[in-house]
Amino acid sequence: MKGDHSSTPHNPSRRDILTLATSAGAVTAVGGVAWPLIAQMNPDASARALASTEVDISTVPEGQIITVKWRGKPVFIRHRTEKEIKDAQAVSLTELPDPEPDDKRVQKPQWLVVIGICTHLGCIPTGKEGEYDGWFCPCHGSSYDVSGRIRQGPAPNNLEVPNYTFVSDTKIKIG
Ligand code: FES
Repeated sequence: MKGDHSSTPHNPSRRDILTLATSAGAVTAVGGVAWPLIAQMNPDASARALASTEVDISTVPEGQIITVKWRGKPVFIRHRTEKEIKDAQAVSLTELPDPEPDDKRVQKPQWLVVIGICTHLGCIPTGKEGEYDGWFCPCHGSSYDVSGRIRQGPAPNNLEVPNYTFVSDTKIKIG
């Protein structure tokens, strides 16, 4: 019931699986579904959107995906598990519509950073969905793998990897 809880109004740990603050706005977990909410919560984010965004990744657990906003676009940051890394590395390039080895798409195997816009017509795919357990775009049924590579459906290309650098082991700078 409203008002029954002793917690403060600001209790992000109760609202989302994971919510983090970044220098350029807010971050949320679980991919595209929550993105419109975050965009709404930060109406001035585009005005503050800088050429680059620093993201603290220290609190992203293994197996989790967060979404950050960069230049008005969602960027997925996925902390991949050992199994996901092995699966991504084991894929033969001949199976891929847009052949690209996993190690050319990541700087550190455990971290995948991709722009969260489907390369078909621009919808925002949902994380950990689809046949390849990467992302699934519900608009027309494109499936991406844990390297963000297109595997099935009408999307012609892999999810784009933005320019980014590791500022430290726990912080990346996108852009
Ligand atoms: S926009 Fe993603 S499948 Fe069409």
